[in-house]
This record gives sequence, C-alpha cells and structure tokens, in this order.
Amino acid sequence: MITSPAPCVIAIDGPAASGKSSVARALARRLGFAYVNSGAFYRVATACVLARGIDPTDADAVAAALGGAEVIAGLRAENGGESFLQLDGHAPTEEALRAAAVNAGVSAVASVPAVRALLTARLRALAEETAPASGFPGTVMEGRDIGSAVFPHTPFKFYIDASAEVRAQRRAAQGGGQDEIAARDRTDSTRRASPLLIAEDAHVIDSSRLTIDGVVGEIIGRLKLKGFAIAS
Ligand code: CDP
Repeated sequence: MITSPAPCVIAIDGPAASGKSSVARALARRLGFAYVNSGAFYRVATACVLARGIDPTDADAVAAALGGAEVIAGLRAENGGESFLQLDGHAPTEEALRAAAVNAGVSAVASVPAVRALLTARLRALAEETAPASGFPGTVMEGRDIGSAVFPHTPFKFYIDASAEVRAQRRAAQGGGQDEIAARDRTDSTRRASPLLIAEDAHVIDSSRLTIDGVVGEIIGRLKLKGFAIAS
C-alpha cells in the first residue's frame, strides 16, 4: 500500500541527458506506476511545427499553429503505462523525435507560454484522471518543470544531474541526431515560462558515477523515508 496524497506523482527533473528517462521508466516499472515523459510531448509539438513548415523560433506562429491542434494524450497499457501524445494526427516515431531538427527547435517551441499551458494541462490530466482510471496507483513524470510548475505540491521531487562531460558522453552513446545539449540547457534554464530549475524541496542526485539501478535505489530509499511502503 502506498500512503501519499492523491494523485500520487513522483516528479523527476533535470538537464538534457542526465539519465532522467532511463531512471524514470525503471522506477515506474518497479512501482507499477504510469510513466510520463513530458520531454517527448515537447518533441511531438516541435515535430508538428516543423511538419507545417513553421520556424520554431517564431513564437506567434508556433502558438497559433498548436493552439488549434487536435490533442490526444494517453497511456499505453500494453507498454507498461507509458505516455503518448498525438497532435493533429502526428504521432512521430521515437527516432523522428530524436532528429537533429527537433533537437535544434525543441527549446524554442518549449519556451512559448501557450505551448506550455496546452501541454501542462494534458500532463496534469494524465496523472489526475487517466492514470487512476487505468488502475495505476501513481505516476512517475519526468521533465524540466514537473516539480516546480506542473505538480508543485507533490512531496516527491527529484532533480537528477550529471557533469557536462558525462552528459555529453551519454548523449553521444545514444546516437541519433546531433544534439547541442549545452545550448538547450541554456535556453531551458533562462526562458521566462517555467524554466529548468531545482525546486526548493527537491532531492538532488548527481548520477555522474551511478548506474541507473543506483539512482533508482537512491530514489526508492528516499521515498521509503517519506512514507512509501515498497516491497524490497
Ligand atoms: O532527452 P533530453 O533530456 O535531452 O530532453 P527531453 O526530456 O526529451 O526534453 C526535450 C526538450 O523539451 C527540453 O530541452 C526542453 O526544452 C523541453 N521540455 C520542457 O520545456 N519541459 C519539460 N517538462 C520537458 C521538456
């Protein structure tokens, strides 16, 4: 049994290539929680903007295009409860979401307040309505502003970091399109609308020298201290 306020959300934030996704997915599996990758939502929005030939840095055009888009967000039960997003019928593959053009444009698209408002509402609905309705006792959600803006009241906040060198190595090892992670981090940290920051009450983990299991173990230890009953 898990003793926590409803909806139960574990927020995992951090900069690019810090290992958040692997950790969040493994943690969700371990707890039987839904897993929401909010970065993928911003990537889908960017792919949609690019497919329409819109410049990602043209904030007004981006807001206009996505403001009228048909949005379908959900959890794939067959995939352990992982989130998905479709915008105007666009459901890009994992590979397409990691393309160089998406890497280059996503921070600009994510800095548009109307885009953040649209996606934040969907992210909240996934944890507050979809996950409980689908039988998940809680949600692990990862991103940049989950603990600071999307679910600021959750008591379960983690910020995963790693040195710039380790993050660059991890991203290179993942292959895919070119990714200027330092430039993305700069834009994400300095934008006005819910920038990447360490929430005051977040537990910070430096994953530079830790394995995924090591980070998951540290999170679970912390959750137990906060009242989670987790079978070991
Ligand atoms: O995989 P990686 O950590 O490099 O990035 P991601 O989690 O896929 O996020 C891609 C981009 O989406 C980030 O660089 C941010 O610009 C944006 N993002 C955001 O603004 N807010 C979130 N909650 C999640 C992602």
